[in-house]
Amino acid sequence: MRLLIAGWHGLVARALIEAAPSRPEIKALAAGRPALDVRDPRSIERAFGDLSPDMVINSAAYTAVDKAEHDRDAVFAMNRDGAALLARAAARRNIPVIHLSTHYVFDGGKPAAYDEHDQPSPATVYGRSKYEGECAVADANPRHVIIRTGWVFSTAPNGFAARMLAQAQSGEHLRVVADQRGNPTYAPHLAAAILEIACRLAAAPSEKNGASDAMPWGTYHAAGSGEATWHSLACELIARAPAARPSAAPEAIASSDYPAAAPRPVNATLNCDKFERVFALRLPPWQRGVTECVAALAAR
Ligand SMILES: NC(=O)c1ccc[n+]([C@@H]2O[C@H](COP(=O)([O-])OP(=O)(O)OC[C@H]3O[C@@H](n4cnc5c(N)ncnc54)[C@H](OP(=O)(O)O)[C@@H]3O)[C@@H](O)[C@H]2O)c1
Repeated sequence: MRLLIAGWHGLVARALIEAAPSRPEIKALAAGRPALDVRDPRSIERAFGDLSPDMVINSAAYTAVDKAEHDRDAVFAMNRDGAALLARAAARRNIPVIHLSTHYVFDGGKPAAYDEHDQPSPATVYGRSKYEGECAVADANPRHVIIRTGWVFSTAPNGFAARMLAQAQSGEHLRVVADQRGNPTYAPHLAAAILEIACRLAAAPSEKNGASDAMPWGTYHAAGSGEATWHSLACELIARAPAARPSAAPEAIASSDYPAAAPRPVNATLNCDKFERVFALRLPPWQRGVTECVAALAAR
């Protein structure tokens, strides 16, 4: 299967590209700006023409949540209109699209984990653009799987894990928000699950061949198992990294002590039961992701 991964330098895209060689049935074709700009239909047509994909994963997005509050037109041009252009170009070729989305489609006010039946209620420009992007993708291409995830962490040099460990190691006093809950998701775990779904989509009989389309298209929640706060995630990272010896444990602070332009959901947790029920897949516990992430960082 020729799998086009849009947004090649992004956190999730990099994890997908790194995981793809473990799936011999996949030939990963990564593309991103300037070669593929998903806001530009000609650029999309050129990429489809040059790469002839059988399936598309859209991990390209405007993800600067705070900046988005004052950059509405650019955010919607990318997260809604660009997402729709890519999904529509795929639909014209009868190609499925796997589209990444986020817990930010919810405002975080629900006490329990959000499931796919909960009505989105985004409280930020980013969240609204992602929700409208989901709707636009679903309208543009009936053969879609939308995957909402959250709190993705990786070994990226400027990512949460590397920053926490570097600051702890340098003896810097760490202050980390402790009143938001989410499901930390180790990027390679998410990537492995997405590639598994891509392989199943590719293996399913398609309408193109006259068979009834057996795939459960739709929206799914997929995030690391178990919940945490940013503070407990930071503590776990530091506890697993022998080289990071802070003079004191990270200080737990409130969101109000760390003001941001876009409000962060108090509850970002996602109920992933549907993902497990339909695909028999559950992402590993986030603590396992921390262990693997710290080991990968130490091996550098
Ligand atoms: N990271 C998380 O914690 C998280 C959580 C929930 C959901 N998600 C979702 O997962 C997806 C991937 O997120 P991520 O964290 O990997 O994002 P990211 O690291 O910010 O990467 C986004 C990528 O999109 C590319 N991009 C932006 N505008 C583009 C355009 N017009 N055409 C083509 N590419 C463009 C960027 O390219 P440039 O390098 O050229 O800027 C960048 O490589 C997004 O849909 C996001 O909403 C992420």
